[in-house]
Amino acid sequence: MKTLQSALLVFVLSLFFDDVEAFWRMVCGTIQMGRIDPIINPGAIAGHCHTVAGPNNFNTTSTYESYQAAYCTSCSIQKDKSAYWTPQLYYRHTNGMFEEVPHDGTVVYYLDRGVGAVNMTAFPPGYRVLAGDPALRAYDPNTLTYGNRQYGSEPVANRVSYACLDSSGPMPETPGFNRMKCSSGLRAQIQFPSCWDGVNLYKSDQSHVAHLSGIDNGICPPTHPKTFPHLFFEVIYSVNSIDQSDGGYFVFSNGDTTGYGFHGDFQNGWDVDVLDAAISQCMGANATNGGQIGLCPPLAASVDPFFSRNCPEQAPLVNETTKGMLKVLPGCNPPTGGPSRAQQNICPVQPALNYVDNQDYKTRSKPVPGDSVANFTYKGCAFDTGQPRPLTGMSYSNQTGMTIDSCTAFCRKNGYAMAGLEYASQCYCASALSRELQSPAVCSSQSAMICTGDSFQFCGGQGLMHIWQDDQYTGPVLKGLPVADVSTLSLPGGENATYRGCYKEGTGARALTGTSYSNNTGMSLENCAAFCKRGNFALFGTEYGNECYCGNTITTEKVLQGNCSVICSGDKTEFCGGGSRLSVWSLGSYTPSSSSSTTGTGSNPTGSQSSTTSTSATPLPSASGVAYLDCYSETTGGRALSSLFTTSGQMTVDLCAQRAQALNLPFFGLEFASQCLAGSVINAASSILQSTKCNMPCSGNTQQTCGGPNAISMYNNTLYVKPRNPDPVNVPNQAGVQYGYYGCYAEPGTARALGSTSNMGSFATESSSLTVEACAALCFAKGYNWMGVENGNQCFCNGAGIVNGAINLTDADCSTTCVGDPKENCGGTAKLNVYQLKSGNSRFGKTTPSKKPASTKPPPSSSKPKRTPAPTTFVTSGKRPTRRYRTW
Ligand SMILES: *[C@@H]1O[C@H](CO)[C@@H](O)[C@H](O)[C@H]1NC(C)=O
Ligand SMILES: *[C@@H]1O[C@H](CO)[C@@H](O)[C@H](O)[C@H]1NC(C)=O
Ligand SMILES: *[C@@H]1O[C@H](CO)[C@@H](O)[C@H](O)[C@H]1NC(C)=O
Ligand SMILES: *[C@@H]1O[C@H](CO)[C@@H](O)[C@H](O)[C@H]1NC(C)=O
Ligand SMILES: *[C@@H]1O[C@H](CO)[C@@H](O)[C@H](O)[C@H]1NC(C)=O
Ligand SMILES: *[C@@H]1O[C@H](CO)[C@@H](O)[C@H](O)[C@H]1NC(C)=O
Ligand SMILES: *[C@@H]1O[C@H](CO)[C@@H](O)[C@H](O)[C@H]1NC(C)=O
Ligand SMILES: *[C@@H]1O[C@H](CO)[C@@H](O)[C@H](O)[C@H]1NC(C)=O
Ligand SMILES: *[C@@H]1O[C@H](CO)[C@@H](O)[C@H](O)[C@H]1NC(C)=O
Repeated sequence: MKTLQSALLVFVLSLFFDDVEAFWRMVCGTIQMGRIDPIINPGAIAGHCHTVAGPNNFNTTSTYESYQAAYCTSCSIQKDKSAYWTPQLYYRHTNGMFEEVPHDGTVVYYLDRGVGAVNMTAFPPGYRVLAGDPALRAYDPNTLTYGNRQYGSEPVANRVSYACLDSSGPMPETPGFNRMKCSSGLRAQIQFPSCWDGVNLYKSDQSHVAHLSGIDNGICPPTHPKTFPHLFFEVIYSVNSIDQSDGGYFVFSNGDTTGYGFHGDFQNGWDVDVLDAAISQCMGANATNGGQIGLCPPLAASVDPFFSRNCPEQAPLVNETTKGMLKVLPGCNPPTGGPSRAQQNICPVQPALNYVDNQDYKTRSKPVPGDSVANFTYKGCAFDTGQPRPLTGMSYSNQTGMTIDSCTAFCRKNGYAMAGLEYASQCYCASALSRELQSPAVCSSQSAMICTGDSFQFCGGQGLMHIWQDDQYTGPVLKGLPVADVSTLSLPGGENATYRGCYKEGTGARALTGTSYSNNTGMSLENCAAFCKRGNFALFGTEYGNECYCGNTITTEKVLQGNCSVICSGDKTEFCGGGSRLSVWSLGSYTPSSSSSTTGTGSNPTGSQSSTTSTSATPLPSASGVAYLDCYSETTGGRALSSLFTTSGQMTVDLCAQRAQALNLPFFGLEFASQCLAGSVINAASSILQSTKCNMPCSGNTQQTCGGPNAISMYNNTLYVKPRNPDPVNVPNQAGVQYGYYGCYAEPGTARALGSTSNMGSFATESSSLTVEACAALCFAKGYNWMGVENGNQCFCNGAGIVNGAINLTDADCSTTCVGDPKENCGGTAKLNVYQLKSGNSRFGKTTPSKKPASTKPPPSSSKPKRTPAPTTFVTSGKRPTRRYRTW
């Protein structure tokens, strides 16, 4: 029998899976905030403050034509230069101050609604409309849409609704303010009139348009026979970031304390051909894009995934404070709670317009090969996904001031002929490429980001480096960049070192396993050589400009010389390896061998590779799933097994096996009678000893052997299963809802791979029982399409996917198991396993009105309008399991 919760879930899911709808949803950032309204108050200061999404040149006098000159828009589709605006929300504290409620972005839906939608018309140039009524302060049940027996009418007031997004689960939507403590924000929603008279581009009483009979579906009145794409806005206000403890109240910029006066404006700026093509291909019964702009080719062609960053909020045009804590609402609107209609009250003195440079004459484009800046020429782009980076020399980043000029100058100053820009803020240098350049066609199809120091230049992109080169400059005369194993370096004292090549750093263990040191200012080939010679090593290697490693053998593979192009910190004429790459040199004492031994802790190897593996004293544990391996040596400077160490006066092989199996660790061992160790790998420096070295009875069972002094009875946990990245992840208690595995990503420096972008929220928690499924449940409940697990116990959610230039790593880099399930991976240190909600499960389905045309219902009793509106979509779900997370 189904639980109440899953029965309700099936009901909610059926609302959007039954009738596949054609639509697209576009996310927008803010472009302007202030008292501007080119529809209602063209050329003047508007009555109340708006938050606007759309073209960068939004202005008091904007028209369809003026929008066409914009060089960007804060919405994702760049061929849509329309403007979309809604009132700003404030919180009135009991001390009389008004606090701006942070705006968390606008989502605009273009829906295929209306029974006549086969004849859907694109918005004509010059079309504009206001939906809602700013003067309303009460629910009006009497003003109805046009309807007939088959398609009943509805109160027009139902065009406005609110959804309180709370972790306690969905709750009924309401037509006015109701619950305002919403842990993920309050979502205000407005449905636009979609029926047009076919003649007038605008009428100030809005009579050029009419609502569909069912507001979000149904028929048009005969007076308004044309159907436009149905516009629906969702605006998220972060009410959760306001301290509501003083018992104040929320109020819109127009003075509305009830929510009934919420409204939305739309001024068309679409490229006519693009909107026409999108309507014919991505609306209608045969459309297959399922809401996704990326699957609608006419729209996808101009999507800028970095829209909110590449088209950020512009300087305020009206000289008036609208942000932070205010004494009065902008325009002096008094808070009014109705129920009668409110008058707009305007301050006696109006602010002036600020002087802001009109940039309509400016354009901007990505670099093309041959472009030049100072002495550098643009060569093309290279992908920076995984190791090595395209340019492996010095690097720096500047979150506010990166430009092509500053990056190329930095590289040139440090002796490099190549400069690469990435992720708006990062600059890399090298003398040679470590990865191939992509073709101009591939490069021009990649999304780029504007430089943090110049919004008219592009500085690479996500995992994408723009490469510039000074063709005249050959760099300083450098030692250590030879072509073969013949290059020599003469050392003080007459000895010569021979270059062996550029080698990969090891994974798990170092490529050169002897001693090492680093010096951020004084590293040179000579200094490293002297250091390793003192320890009687045969090889030395320098890495990342300032690290020195010694050893007797090198076990990793050789890579392209360009990988080792970081200049030594102590000698600008020498190369000292690269990131995870070593410039390896041999000293006179070196004789190349084919040995693959990774031991080597000095010049006189200890012969520890004992060949005798006695089985005479094999202990016999009763635990299942264990197989004895051998008696192993403990290691100095790090234990032989490093993931678990525990001691007990009651230690047995079985007890230690249980510990290792609970943590799903492949190896465990017992040492010195009472110690239990476990780990994922046996330290390479641990070697097999004579079996007699493991001779101590276990403290908890004298019949069993528990190692000896510095000797470990080593076992294989044969129940170990390789931790997996579940794909798909089934969201618990959400039948059919799944996230798909996306990959392992490095956290970019201090920023977060699933951090917040300016207009889309993110969320993070830590849990001592984290599993991939628990994180999925949390992120889905909060409405996020992306999730990630990190460090075994952390869960991140966001709506935007991977941001901040996070780099894709191999799955092996994310191998920390989840604290709540060691058979699953939960990222690594500063590394995330990222998952994306599978399409079809998107939040859209849960939250947008999805009523079917009234034709499928019995004729509603249109003669008797309801006094209170029914919730449009949501049904309260049953109790959700409470899970305790710590939020930071
Ligand atoms: C669509 O337009 C055609 C021609 O203008 C008209 O005959 C037809 O009735 C319209 N369809 C609907 C459903 O309105
Ligand atoms: C949808 O596709 C079917 C089959 O290809 C076709 O017969 C029908 O005319 C199409 N409908 C529209 C509205 O394009
Ligand atoms: C903007 O307003 C401030 C304070 O009201 C005033 O001092 C300043 O002169 C105004 N600037 C412009 C350009 O009007
Ligand atoms: C806004 O419009 C006014 C009047 O057309 C114009 O003078 C001004 O330069 C515009 N401002 C911007 C920033 O485009
Ligand atoms: C640019 O190149 C010219 C000619 O090769 C050279 O004289 C000049 O110093 C270079 N400028 C810089 C900043 O390197
Ligand atoms: C970033 O660039 C700006 C402008 O060039 C400069 O003033 C600032 O010092 C730089 N910041 C860092 C951290 O380099
Ligand atoms: C080192 O190389 C120099 C020049 O190639 C040579 O004269 C010298 O004999 C070499 N030293 C040794 C110890 O091989
Ligand atoms: C680093 O090298 C410099 C120059 O050789 C030296 O003066 C300094 O003491 C070294 N620093 C350390 C920490 O070894
Ligand atoms: C450990 O046991 C597993 C399962 O029996 C086996 O596949 C694996 O090779 C063993 N590993 C070692 C190092 O013996």
